[in-house]
Amino acid sequence: MLKAALCVIFLLGALPSSAKESQGHISVVLLGATGDLAKKYLWQGLFQLYLDEVSSGHSFTFYGAALTEPEPGKLLMFEVLKKLACPPDVDPNRCVVVKDQFLKLSQYRQLKTSENYTTLNQDIKTLLQQEGLEEAGRIFYFSVPPFAYMEIARHINSSCRPRPGAWLRVVLEKPFGHDYESAQQLATELGTFFLEEEMYRVDHYLGKQAVAHILPFRDHNRKLLDPILNRHHVERVEIVLKETIDAKGRASFYEHYGVIRDVLQNHLNEVLMYLAMELPANINHSEEVLRNKLQTFKLLQGLEKTSAVIGQYQTYNSQVREELQKADNYFSMTPTFAGVLFQIDGLRWEGVPFVLASGKALDERTGYVRVLFKNRAYCTQSETLRDARWSQCKPKQIVFYIGHGELNSPAVLVSRNLFKPTMPEGSWREVSDRPQLRLFGQPLSDYYAYYPVKEREAYSSLISNIYHSKRDSFITTENMLASWEFWTPLLDGLAQQAPRLYPGGQENEHLLDFEMVGREVSFTLQEPVEVLSAGGGQTPDDYRSTQNKFRKSPLVLGWAEELISRLASDIKAAAASAVERSGEFHLALSGGSSPIALFQRLAMHHYDFPWGHTHLWLVDERCVPLTDPESNFHSLHSYLIQHVRVPYFNVHPMPVHFNQRLCVEEDRGMELYAKEITALVTNSSFDLMLLGVGADGHTASLFPHSPSGLEGAQAVVLTESPVKPHQRMSLSLPLINKARQVTILVMGKGKHDIVTLISRVGNDPAKWPISGVNPSSGQLAWYIDYEALFG
Ligand SMILES: *[C@@H]1O[C@H](CO)[C@@H](O)[C@H](O)[C@H]1NC(C)=O
Ligand SMILES: *[C@@H]1O[C@H](CO)[C@@H](O)[C@H](O)[C@H]1NC(C)=O
Ligand SMILES: *[C@@H]1O[C@H](CO)[C@@H](O)[C@H](O)[C@H]1NC(C)=O
Ligand SMILES: *[C@@H]1O[C@H](CO)[C@@H](O)[C@H](O)[C@H]1NC(C)=O
Repeated sequence: MLKAALCVIFLLGALPSSAKESQGHISVVLLGATGDLAKKYLWQGLFQLYLDEVSSGHSFTFYGAALTEPEPGKLLMFEVLKKLACPPDVDPNRCVVVKDQFLKLSQYRQLKTSENYTTLNQDIKTLLQQEGLEEAGRIFYFSVPPFAYMEIARHINSSCRPRPGAWLRVVLEKPFGHDYESAQQLATELGTFFLEEEMYRVDHYLGKQAVAHILPFRDHNRKLLDPILNRHHVERVEIVLKETIDAKGRASFYEHYGVIRDVLQNHLNEVLMYLAMELPANINHSEEVLRNKLQTFKLLQGLEKTSAVIGQYQTYNSQVREELQKADNYFSMTPTFAGVLFQIDGLRWEGVPFVLASGKALDERTGYVRVLFKNRAYCTQSETLRDARWSQCKPKQIVFYIGHGELNSPAVLVSRNLFKPTMPEGSWREVSDRPQLRLFGQPLSDYYAYYPVKEREAYSSLISNIYHSKRDSFITTENMLASWEFWTPLLDGLAQQAPRLYPGGQENEHLLDFEMVGREVSFTLQEPVEVLSAGGGQTPDDYRSTQNKFRKSPLVLGWAEELISRLASDIKAAAASAVERSGEFHLALSGGSSPIALFQRLAMHHYDFPWGHTHLWLVDERCVPLTDPESNFHSLHSYLIQHVRVPYFNVHPMPVHFNQRLCVEEDRGMELYAKEITALVTNSSFDLMLLGVGADGHTASLFPHSPSGLEGAQAVVLTESPVKPHQRMSLSLPLINKARQVTILVMGKGKHDIVTLISRVGNDPAKWPISGVNPSSGQLAWYIDYEALFG
């Protein structure tokens, strides 16, 4: 108890002699005291709380807790505490003294076992008793991963609750689940330990100064603003968070969440609520604010797949493969960019687009809420004569600038032609420097612009709000569930959708621009593949003029992932039109490694592909049992067939395995397959045939310098490969050339030489069988990735 006694000496010393009567004692327990968040923000926030409230009449003790043993834990924790900074607005001498007190009121605790919690509880009680202090309450800040929540919650409930009459506040950090179901489960479980009013779920965006000022701003300017904050006057609202960094190093987290769960579902959505909700009569009433916010939630129109556009920066996939140790054919569908269009029912907002956008690896780091008003004025006088700043023809906007970007500070901006806002003196000051800086199409001098008098970390504000039980700065259970209920259908819908790939940074150019038409959004540029090849910079100049053709046939060019996703959707389109035309779709697929990625992509089109009407055929096969991993059918089965609902009788493996032997001429497997084709495929003309190219110029299993299958009447042939397994079965070139559509997919650096070669040669199937692919009445298209084309 020596420690407790010491605490008390300083504790009493901390109270000024003129202190009000003691308001009671508060114990703050920071769980995860040596973690990143604690190091970066939470200790500083607790120190700030102590600085602010040291003369409030409350006394404090701070317990940093973690699983680490007492000695090393203590060292780690005090390393952090020693570095706590004195805020610039505090007298340095006073700060040194207060910091010293703070350090002495702080101690490290190992909280691992239930005994450890019981001991903590006992120690708090003893301290209170010894010093004759009344307990006011306890704060437990969970700065730990969610999987640890339940155990900690159980311990706190069973052995660390304060005396009856004192309050308990537990502070929770996101993620609060992954979708509606998991969020609800987590909430239900936590609800068995804590009352709703005991839980403070942090969304740190709500502590950012510009965001926290949205409601006060609306309140202070109620008379001028309320009449124009509606569908009659507002053109649109943009809520944006752009990041330049990517997810490197965090891929294992990010891959499970993605930009929508990481940013839009919580931060941006919450910010939107502050702007869109009905303003309560008294914004100091937390319950009223929370109620209005929830009501507006219920007015949000459901999101459709067409309400969103998604993107993924190009190197994300390789980062995921590396950090999660995924195979080379793993393709992540996780979006790192999203733009979502919201519409809100009700008289105030009906028809006004609310755009939420966020992404990683973008051109700048910035965040803002921007309300753009309709402009109905026509200005007769010439622009040079007008006083530009008040011109009614200039854009009218209000911006809550969250930070970073050009301003590099939180700010509130109001166009001068709108109104001069009332800002609380003492906390916001008008800015007039940097008049030349342009923001949202106007020089800074066109705005009334305000910076905070002192900048404050979001976490410091939130910790203060926890202390003051300002509950409307936190996410209630009902609010959180409403949010997940709202977002989950969109997340489910997008799970099957390939994001548009973008190169990252300034190279993104206009690739991610999107536009709104009615209730839908779409990228403004429809052809990312061509755009990339024109703007990517890696494209040799001589290639540009012919970029859409390869060997006189249409070429689709792109990075591997995007190429696959494009091909998958083209196949889907071909399937839909074949089914419409003839009721069935005959698809013949090749073996090899490139198609595997395609199979996986196709498997994702689980629901909207006409699998029930699709027949799957093999272009070629190795003479091995179908269960052999070398078998083309085997990989087709593993990566596609078993994931989709193709009827069994629509699946047509090549009969290479007969009479317990492989590809023996007299078993007539070739004839059998040819008969099956004749019987089922009209005119033996496949709707779509997917081919590849070997480094030696072979395609299907038709090899150079081997006449078999290059001409003649045989539809299916046996061939010899130069590499093992040597024996193959293959569709013949004449049959291939009967197809309605032939698609040749070529990917990877290893194909660069052959691609270069065949771009120049004429038709010489004996030397390069691929050059003999030339559908007699069908269409041929090449899908080639950058690596194969440019090496
Ligand atoms: C925590 O509890 C365990 C098991 O009861 C005990 O061995 C350990 O010493 C305790 N840690 C502290 C710091 O009391
Ligand atoms: C919470 O603690 C109380 C008091 O110890 C106990 O009765 C109750 O069962 C606990 N709740 C849960 C869910 O364990
Ligand atoms: C709300 O609280 C602020 C600061 O505590 C105070 O200045 C303001 O007058 C209060 N507003 C109302 C309507 O009570
Ligand atoms: C089948 O081929 C014949 C002769 O080439 C042609 O007239 C007919 O239109 C084809 N049928 C279909 C469905 O393509």
